[in-house]
Amino acid sequence: MISPETAPPASPAAPSSLDDVKGWFPKLDQLLFTWFLERQERLGERGDLVELGSYLGKSAILMGRHLRDGETFTVCDLFDTDAPDDSNQAEMQGSYSTLTRRAFESNYRAFHDRLPEIVQGPTSLILDHVQPETCRFVHVDASHLYEHVRADIEAAHVMLPAGGLIVCDDYRSEHTPGVSAAVWGAVAAGGLRPICVTTQKFYGTWGDADTVQDDLLDWLGTRDDAWHEVQQVAGRRLVRLKGKGATRPYNEAGRLKERLAQAEKRLARSEERLARAQKELEAVRGSVSFRVGRAATALPRALRGGRKA
Ligand SMILES: C[S@@+](CC[C@H](N)C(=O)[O-])C[C@H]1O[C@@H](n2cnc3c(N)ncnc32)[C@H](O)[C@@H]1O
Repeated sequence: MISPETAPPASPAAPSSLDDVKGWFPKLDQLLFTWFLERQERLGERGDLVELGSYLGKSAILMGRHLRDGETFTVCDLFDTDAPDDSNQAEMQGSYSTLTRRAFESNYRAFHDRLPEIVQGPTSLILDHVQPETCRFVHVDASHLYEHVRADIEAAHVMLPAGGLIVCDDYRSEHTPGVSAAVWGAVAAGGLRPICVTTQKFYGTWGDADTVQDDLLDWLGTRDDAWHEVQQVAGRRLVRLKGKGATRPYNEAGRLKERLAQAEKRLARSEERLARAQKELEAVRGSVSFRVGRAATALPRALRGGRKA
C-alpha cells in the first residue's frame, strides 16, 4: 500500500506491540501468517524464512517470532540506498523517503534479541544470498513494478521447495496493477496455485494447495471473526477471506505475555546496569579504604621520620 491517503500513523520511538510499528500489515493477514507458520511448525516442515520488502519491520517482526533453531530469516530491502531504476526510485521517494535501515533494526530489536540476515539492496540480489529450495515461507512485498515483482516471484519459486508458501502483497490494489499482472501471470502460466486471498495479500504454493485449503477451511469453521467464501479461479479452488471483525492473532493473554516479556527484558537490562554500578562503587570504596588505610599507617612513620629529622 503506498498511496498517501493510506499512509499509516507515525510510530512511537520504542514500539512495545506490533500495533506501534508503522507499516502495512492488516490484522487478518497477521492472523493468517501466524496460522500458516504455526501449521508448518505443527507438521514439522522446516526451512528458512525470507521477506522481500520489510520497510520498518511490521511483518518481519511477526515472521521472526516463528523462526526455529537452525533456521535463517533473511530480509531484503533497499532501505536508504538507491533503487535500481528510475521508476523504482520514484516509488521509493514517493512512499518511503524517510526509511532507514537503522529504524528497521531498532524496531526489530525491540522484539527480538537477534536481527535477521539483512540484504540491503535490490531484491534481484536475493538468490546470491539464499540457496534454492531452502525456504518454507517467502513474503513478496517490495517493488510494485511488474518486471520486479515477476522476478521476485520467480526467485521465490527457486527458494521454495514444492510445499513452500509464497505470500504476495498488493496483488489487487488499484495503484499496483503491475503486482496483479505478475501474480496472476504466475498462476496462469507459472504453475503457482492459489490457496487464499485477502483484501491485501495473495497466498499460494507450487505444491499441494488442496490439503492446505482443507486445513484452512476447517480452521475458519472454528472462527467467527473472519468471513470467507470459496470460488473457482482458472479451474482451481480459491478461498476468499475478508477481515471484518478479525481479531488479533494473539489473544489478550498473548499480548499481555508479550508486554510482560518486554518489561522483563527492560528489568534485566536495569539489573545489569545496577550490578555494574554496584561493582564500580565497591571498587571505588575498596581503593578509598586502601588509600586511607595506607595514609593512616604511613602517618606515624612520617611523624617518626619528622622527629628523626
Ligand atoms: C510496502 S513496503 C513493505 C511493507 C512491510 N512488509 C510491512 O509489513 O510494513 C515495501 C518495501 O520495499 C522496499 N523496496 C522497494 N523496491 C525495492 C527493491 N527493488 N528492492 C528491495 N526493496 C525494495 C521499500 O524500501 C519498502 O521498504
